[in-house]
Amino acid sequence: MRISSKLSLRFVLLFAVFTIIAFFLFSYLVREKSEYDYIYFLSTLNNTISSTLVENDSLKKNYNEILNKIHSQFSNKPIIRITLISCSGKVIFESDTFAHKMDNHKTRPEIMKALNGEVGTSIRQSKTLKKDFLFVASPVKNSDKTQVIGIIRTSVLVKDFDSQTAKFAITIIFFLVIFLLFGFLILDRFSKRITVPICEIENATKEFASGNLDVTVKAEGKDEIASLANNFNIMIDNFKKLLSELKYLEQVKRDFIVNVSHELKTPLTAIKGFIETLEDELIEDEIIEEKELKNYLKYIDITKRHTHRLISIVQDLLMLSETETVSSSLMKSKTDVKMLLEKMLPIFSQKLEEKQLKLITEFTPDFPEISVDAFKFEQIFVNLIDNAIKYSDKGEIKIAAKADNEYAYFTVTDSGIGIKPEDQTRIFERFYTANKSRSRQTGGTGLGLSIVKHIVLLHKGEITVESKLGTGTVFLIKLPIV
Ligand SMILES: Nc1ncnc2c1ncn2[C@@H]1O[C@H](COP(=O)(O)OP(=O)(O)OP(=O)(O)O)[C@@H](O)[C@H]1O
Ligand SMILES: [Mg+2]
Repeated sequence: MRISSKLSLRFVLLFAVFTIIAFFLFSYLVREKSEYDYIYFLSTLNNTISSTLVENDSLKKNYNEILNKIHSQFSNKPIIRITLISCSGKVIFESDTFAHKMDNHKTRPEIMKALNGEVGTSIRQSKTLKKDFLFVASPVKNSDKTQVIGIIRTSVLVKDFDSQTAKFAITIIFFLVIFLLFGFLILDRFSKRITVPICEIENATKEFASGNLDVTVKAEGKDEIASLANNFNIMIDNFKKLLSELKYLEQVKRDFIVNVSHELKTPLTAIKGFIETLEDELIEDEIIEEKELKNYLKYIDITKRHTHRLISIVQDLLMLSETETVSSSLMKSKTDVKMLLEKMLPIFSQKLEEKQLKLITEFTPDFPEISVDAFKFEQIFVNLIDNAIKYSDKGEIKIAAKADNEYAYFTVTDSGIGIKPEDQTRIFERFYTANKSRSRQTGGTGLGLSIVKHIVLLHKGEITVESKLGTGTVFLIKLPIV
């Protein structure tokens, strides 16, 4: 999940919790406040009614007329119910029902309090009307306020003032939702200010990882993100500098190898030529004794073998330097690789015969022509077959090839000594030889497989090895057909 989505989700969750808590808290406070206001209002109304009744001395006579008149003033919601009760608890006036049908009210909690000269309140169900009411009862005192002569009680339906609370709560929710939307918009802009530069850095790192080194990110401002962007740019610069230094050193090394190899090639070829001439002349020399000739030929053979080895090292180094340079050096063309390999294989005939090994090729009948640099492609198999022969003492060597629409797959399989798992990851390194004593014996320098790997990579292919010690080795090559 993206950072901006995470931020927004958390904000929405937080705000939802906050809204719910705020709703309940406000509703509670509003209800408390409105209850308090109604008690205040009803007790003031009680006082007014009480004074009117006392002033007119109407507690005994025409209270009906006065109270009905007052009651009619509160015909709009919330409707006020008015009850007049005598000190004995008898209901003598009731605005909403018939007074004579009502119970004695002496034990009602608000009446009991009012009889004591105080204002009594209670929220409970009316036994007469079976609805919840807020009752406020006040004593009606005689004109010199020394005696309670009756009780005036006013009340409102609880659901009437609850509906007002609900209206208020809905208003609060409405404003909270508006506030939430504003908050969300502000957060969205704020999170974009943070996440957009982070996304830019993320994209730049992706580009960088995919090989584009010419990436920079904008580093505006002075916050941590700007510092991160700045450090990223510095890192890329340093990396590029380091890379160009490495490339330079690599080039120096390659030039050195190429120059030295070229310098060595001419004298070595001359030495080889002269040794062969010397050998021929010695053989033809009739004066020389046979025993001496045998000795000389032995020394010449050793010199010839070492010279040959030096020449093949020089050739390998030149080939490696060439394959290590850019891919433009490939001379690709559509090639019938089966025919190419069949023409090349006779160079191994003598070695195969010496070791009594069999070499077989197995190409699928419809194997297509593939686009390769023929000379370098041939070198892959020269090196692999050379190894297969060098590191096998029995059995057969098989070259197989098949293809699908995109790739050609080649395998070179032998039943030789095999390669240890820990060596399998290293044999493609330059000068790495897995079996030192065998390499010394066979004259291997550890360049063959690095050349193979480079040629495969130049063709945008892959090479892998599977091997079991004592059983044999398979080299697998996958090359794109086009
Ligand atoms: N078919 C194989 N069977 C067993 N070991 C192998 C095989 N091919 C390569 N190796 C091991 O991998 C090492 C590296 O091979 P590589 O061809 O690079 O060098 P080399 O054969 O020793 O020398 P050269 O440069 O003459 O080819 C070899 O020394 C050998 O130990
Ligand atoms: Mg080799």
